[in-house]
Amino acid sequence: MFADVDRFEFFPTLIWKFQVEPEERPGLNAALGTEITRLVGDRSTTPAGGTWQTDQNLHENPVFAPLAQMIQDAALNALTDLEVDNQDIVITGCWANVNPPGAQHIRHNHPNNFLSGSYYVTAGAGGDRIKFSDPRGQTSVMAPPTQNRNRFNSNNVIMPVAEGDLVMFPGWLDHEVPINQSDADRVSIAFNVMFRSYGEAMSRPMWKGSAGG
Ligand SMILES: [Fe+2]
Repeated sequence: MFADVDRFEFFPTLIWKFQVEPEERPGLNAALGTEITRLVGDRSTTPAGGTWQTDQNLHENPVFAPLAQMIQDAALNALTDLEVDNQDIVITGCWANVNPPGAQHIRHNHPNNFLSGSYYVTAGAGGDRIKFSDPRGQTSVMAPPTQNRNRFNSNNVIMPVAEGDLVMFPGWLDHEVPINQSDADRVSIAFNVMFRSYGEAMSRPMWKGSAGG
């Protein structure tokens, strides 16, 4: 007989959801939404179900300065959770996605960045989900039926999001945006964050030679 059992959760994948103060959301989202609409201009050429994206430099646009600061703060929070020593980071890309009703964004990841994420300007009912996939692809080879889905037996997670949420995750983690089933555009702002000097400051061997020791 067992006296006890210890259960270990090794190698977890952290996904963060930072939530802007409720009273700050309407003003912030109105300002961001207005500027995105201006940047979008005439998007009559967007194919049905397609996604319209801005250029990738929104973090350099003064209107998005409050969001850029939020991204920086969120990233530092994440790096602190991970106890990363070097927290000198830079936003390497920031762009808006406009998903009309029926649009989706297929499974992908964000290469060459440590952290990625999305801030939600509008996310109406039916257009308020992001889906993450288990990075251990082979787990789907054997998937016995379960009594309930939980984080130990699922190979994807659908996370609800709300306007004013900032979701952050490792850049390597596969994710997708399910079809917008609402009757309004779904507007989100995606971003990437990387260490400013990864090669120069962080890539030396993680061991020391014994010469002179
Ligand atoms: Fe993405």
